[in-house]
Amino acid sequence: MTRPVNFSPGPAIVAPEVLEQAASALMGVPEVQGLSVVEISHRLPWFEGVVAETRDRLRRLMGIPDTHAILFLQGGARGQFAQVPLNWLRPGTVGAYIDTGVWSKAAIDEARTLGEVQVIASGESEGYRRLPALEGVALPERTAYVHTTSNNTIYGTQWPELPDFGAVPHVVDISSDILARPIDVSRFALLYAGAQKNAGVSGVTIAIIDKAWMAAAREDIPAIWQYRVQDAHDSMFNTPPTFAIYVTLCVCRWLEELGGVAAMAARNEDKARIVYAAIDGSDGFYRGVVTEPRHRSRMNATFRLPSEALEKTFVAEAEAAGLHHLKGHRKAGGIRASLYNALPVEGAERLAEFMRDFKARH
Ligand SMILES: Cc1ncc(COP(=O)(O)O)c(C=O)c1O
Repeated sequence: MTRPVNFSPGPAIVAPEVLEQAASALMGVPEVQGLSVVEISHRLPWFEGVVAETRDRLRRLMGIPDTHAILFLQGGARGQFAQVPLNWLRPGTVGAYIDTGVWSKAAIDEARTLGEVQVIASGESEGYRRLPALEGVALPERTAYVHTTSNNTIYGTQWPELPDFGAVPHVVDISSDILARPIDVSRFALLYAGAQKNAGVSGVTIAIIDKAWMAAAREDIPAIWQYRVQDAHDSMFNTPPTFAIYVTLCVCRWLEELGGVAAMAARNEDKARIVYAAIDGSDGFYRGVVTEPRHRSRMNATFRLPSEALEKTFVAEAEAAGLHHLKGHRKAGGIRASLYNALPVEGAERLAEFMRDFKARH
């Protein structure tokens, strides 16, 4: 199947093999009398098997230890912005946040409606064009947790290594780089991600949570927002997003077939190298937005052209050439090429070729 080259920031490109499997299950699943995956009960053994297999594959792919539970939730990453402080930000404790742009700011704003928040480091004064330095940063007394955003989808920065806060519970939003690079899950209290970039389609939110920390969460909040309740019900306290979970299963199968997260990380490095080389080799025609090369995202490459008018022309001509969704976020402007797992290396090569050709013509 030949498909358009899709650089969308999310919902994002999905591998053709995954789309084919999902389309087939949408039309009918042989194991459930040919009914569609979206017209059967989540209580059927076949669907319980889907959930179990998705969890097993995620556990293998990400090396998730038995100390951590895997939950399939709803409400997206923004839901997690609220659910985390709801569960752990008790009166008298502080949520410590690292501000690296729009999404971490949204997490901070949401937490502030529920309790005390302290921003321990921020990249705001530098326009979020690099990650803030953490040397000398002290955590407040009675820190309930630290919150970090792993990859900043809008500005195009990504922590090369996630910060370490020792024994303090560390929560990380991995929405835009889940399954894209190896991560030592055992170091974290909670990792969460909306699936719609690297792990499937919108509708399901993956939460990987330290069981001991989950047991220490508040019990005086509505049951639906308690991680422990969802865990006790195998993520089926309410009707789960069945189709979205099924697509995540197809993504996991595809990823394991391709060699897993380490193989995917190597492929992502290749794609990023190709696109950043096209930026850096353009004699200043293209200018990378991120000022510190080590902080450049492997997932979202952001760059500017000599003028906004030229950026408009770039996006229009790219669309005409079959390279889609390259316009930057409205808050950041410029160009953003999202290079998620499902984008093949040839996609990055075609973009680099287009960039060289565009520069020559303009
Ligand atoms: C890093 C990050 N966090 C959170 C979100 C918001 O995700 P959702 O729409 O699933 O709430 C996004 C969306 O692009 C994101 O990139």
